[in-house]
Amino acid sequence: MSNTFVIKGNGGDRNLHGTVRVTGAKNAALKVIAATVLFRDTLNLTNIPEINDTLRMFDLLKDMGADVTNNKRGSYNVFVPNQFATELSPGIAKRMRASIVLTGPVLARYGEVSFPHPGGCVIGARPLDLFVSGFEKMGAKVTIKEDSYIVEAKKGLVGAEFFLKNQSVTVTETFLMAAVLAKGTTVIKNAAMEPEIADLAAFLNKCGAKISGAGTPIITIKGGKLLSGKGHPYKTMPDRIEAGSFLVLGALAARELHITNCNPAHLESPIEILRSAGVFIETKKNEIIVRAPSHLKPVDIKTHEYPGFPTDLQAPMTVLLTQADGESTVFETIFEGRLNYTESLSAMGASITMMDPHRALVRGKTELKGRKLTSPDLRAGLAFVIAAIVAKGESVIHNVDTTIDRGYEDVENRLREIGVNIERAKMVPESVA
Ligand code: EPZ
Repeated sequence: MSNTFVIKGNGGDRNLHGTVRVTGAKNAALKVIAATVLFRDTLNLTNIPEINDTLRMFDLLKDMGADVTNNKRGSYNVFVPNQFATELSPGIAKRMRASIVLTGPVLARYGEVSFPHPGGCVIGARPLDLFVSGFEKMGAKVTIKEDSYIVEAKKGLVGAEFFLKNQSVTVTETFLMAAVLAKGTTVIKNAAMEPEIADLAAFLNKCGAKISGAGTPIITIKGGKLLSGKGHPYKTMPDRIEAGSFLVLGALAARELHITNCNPAHLESPIEILRSAGVFIETKKNEIIVRAPSHLKPVDIKTHEYPGFPTDLQAPMTVLLTQADGESTVFETIFEGRLNYTESLSAMGASITMMDPHRALVRGKTELKGRKLTSPDLRAGLAFVIAAIVAKGESVIHNVDTTIDRGYEDVENRLREIGVNIERAKMVPESVA
């Protein structure tokens, strides 16, 4: 599959219309795929997004000895046997930060796990100190060799009390899952509250776990035996970041756009902010309707842990602010390298001043012009697609497969259905600057 998008911009017209359906959430599916290690029998997973990251997570499991069958699009059966390798393949794990969530379940079930420092996108240093201290708190011994971690708890993990210095999503999920098989009770304080965490806990409880408080800052887990998936197929919740990305696109360029199969309750902060920028938004149970206004008002955004404004929507929202009449500030509080992509937006004609690695000042409205771009990471890549759609002229976006394809399923076809002129290019036009 080609690695490049060619997009003909609509030059600021508000002509997109129709319906775009949201797929299953990448950041929910990845964790439930890892949770299959906690089960003594086969688990059926449905509405799994067909994206590079989920396929990679399945490859990791298969490489370690799991039996994974793909029944039909988005539906998988997974069985993890008692005989299972405990090393995460560096070739796969290094390319996907989310592989870290597998370490908790593997360590809890098999008493050891080894893994490389996971790679992932360029958005920040992304240390592992909370994982290391968490493993040690649960009675494990951690050995760090060059770039790999060996964690051992031959007698099994014991319940512990944590206070997380950062409300880390994957730290919360990893120790929530490890605690399901630990001896005794674990309490995670200052836990992350993202909806994917409550979704994971609710599903594991259906299958025999004893987790309370997920979705709040204090989660309590009573350890016990392996879980059973019998009679409990898992259906992946809708992807709120994907829905939010389409919402921003609609706020910029839609005559009227219907975003279906989503949960508006998970998008209260972006909806509130877009409404304050003058965007018409109507919500229904599983649908959001958006119309772009003729003029956008400037707004200040500050990313925050859930239910605050999601850092994963910061880049798409920053594109919108380049088209607002006036000055807006963007304060990225979660990751220290997540504003670097703004240089490319400035090259398209945006007026963005970096005040420090976490803050940028956006002056609008400025006309964006199509150009050649290289997608640096998943969310900035999608922001480049949005910028190219509202720009004048043609854009070429490279590096699609290692970024955008990691998190958005078949995005070019779904965008084309609502009126976007986008191709996954075989040949790259020389004419684009
Ligand atoms: C999850 O990453 C998501 N990834 C990210 O989405 C998302 O941006 C992030 O949460 C925040 O919402 C997945 O769920 C797979 P964190 P995660 O640990 O868990 C610091 C996307 O685009 N920290 O919550 O890795 C860390 O440096 C991705 O889909 C430590 O200091 O993020 C950061 O500043 C990108 N020590 C803060 O916590 C640690 O040991 C929050 O990051 C771990 C994290």
